[in-house]
Amino acid sequence: MVQTDGAEIIIEDATIGESLMVVAKAHGVVGILGDCGGGCACATCHVYVDPQWLDVVGAPDAIEEMTLDMVSDITRSNSRLTCQIRVRPELDGLKVTVANSQ
Ligand code: FES
Repeated sequence: MVQTDGAEIIIEDATIGESLMVVAKAHGVVGILGDCGGGCACATCHVYVDPQWLDVVGAPDAIEEMTLDMVSDITRSNSRLTCQIRVRPELDGLKVTVANSQ
């Protein structure tokens, strides 16, 4: 993950089934706040998915889209909320950049 301070952090011990937001917070990723605890209500876990990974990660559902609309000034076509992404084996090597929502 590329953090909001520009530094990259590589996470190698993510637990399958955990949300990417929980994993990021456990590793102290700068810019991932997760204020709503993963309830898809705050958009403080917003990232931009590397274009090469978009198909694997998938698109946001309607509820996630509504939450992303709250930060529409910084959303992009590759925006996702990490609390809505579950770690699975296919995501090994996933690259994302944390959106600066501050
Ligand atoms: S933690 Fe609040 S929307 Fe993801």
